[in-house]
Amino acid sequence: MSTPERMRQFKEINTEISKAYLGRTTLVEYMLASLIAQGHLLLEGVPGVAKTTLVKAFAASLNIHFQRIQFTPDLLPADITGSYLFNMRDQAFDLRKGPLFANIVLADEINRAPAKTQSAMLEAMAEQQVTIEGERHPLPPPFMVLATQNPIEQEGVYPLPEAQLDRFLMKFQLGFPPRDIERAMLRTYRKTPESPAPVVDIQTILRWQHDVESVHVSEELEEYLLDLVAYTRNHRSILLGVSPRGTLGLLRAARALAFVRGRDYVVPDDIRAMAVPVMAHRLIIQPEAEMEGLRGEQIIQEALQRIVVLRRENPA
Ligand SMILES: Nc1ncnc2c1ncn2[C@@H]1O[C@H](COP(=O)(O)OP(=O)(O)OP(=O)(O)O)[C@@H](O)[C@H]1O
Ligand SMILES: [Mg+2]
Repeated sequence: MSTPERMRQFKEINTEISKAYLGRTTLVEYMLASLIAQGHLLLEGVPGVAKTTLVKAFAASLNIHFQRIQFTPDLLPADITGSYLFNMRDQAFDLRKGPLFANIVLADEINRAPAKTQSAMLEAMAEQQVTIEGERHPLPPPFMVLATQNPIEQEGVYPLPEAQLDRFLMKFQLGFPPRDIERAMLRTYRKTPESPAPVVDIQTILRWQHDVESVHVSEELEEYLLDLVAYTRNHRSILLGVSPRGTLGLLRAARALAFVRGRDYVVPDDIRAMAVPVMAHRLIIQPEAEMEGLRGEQIIQEALQRIVVLRRENPA
């Protein structure tokens, strides 16, 4: 598939999504990059900023098997993985596959599920498989989880532990829209919005996931990326810096973003754009600094300001 053809598809996906969701186009770029990098994504935002709408629109623009799981405090692991049901006619147990058997899963309000159900979900995310009554079942690719959560402390929520946040390639905050976008929203959605139509199929997505592997990263940029990661590990306000999974994640995300932007090589801006979405949620901040309001995002911004890409004139 040629690059112009691919760029046309990306643009069309954007157009389809905008039938249901208006916002910054970078968000759609990042979602595509996450899909292409085979990563999962966490969307955080207060109620009513269109988290659910955005994920549904994204899935609708792709011709794939989509499932939505609404997390609630009484949801059991078997409700999402599936279970064996006894079939009277055949006198045998039939596997009734749960909603995790899909290509894109919307895990809506993931922080409302109890720990056991969250961990069934996280096994699926990390290992692309589910365990049902001790038996493993692989989940066919592409497999991507898009989870949403509401950051406001409420009764009956179970915040994801840091270790589980690490399973998400990216996390972003969905804030209130700028005034011009909100005005456009008022005008566009006076009537019931159209739903997005699918633009590409599974084969195309799998091809993108394969083709992104040939996006080139220079040694200079590898060093830049390692410097950014090291900054988080040596920071006095941080208890635990970015994990090696995060380092790899930043590389994969930056390559995928280059790919979505039509290049076969990574530029520093790809890494900069991905730094906060990929790294901020993986940091564990010192409790005192956290109490004073320090956030992971600020530390990553600080790293981006202080660290420069070094030219390596005479590579060793
Ligand atoms: N940027 C936007 N573009 C289009 N529609 C929007 C936008 N922001 C909000 N809306 C509209 O607001 C309503 C709420 O959206 P949605 O249910 O997706 O929010 P949510 O963030 O998932 O909320 P909750 O946390 O309560 O589940 C929908 O009707 C949606 O169309
Ligand atoms: Mg919602």
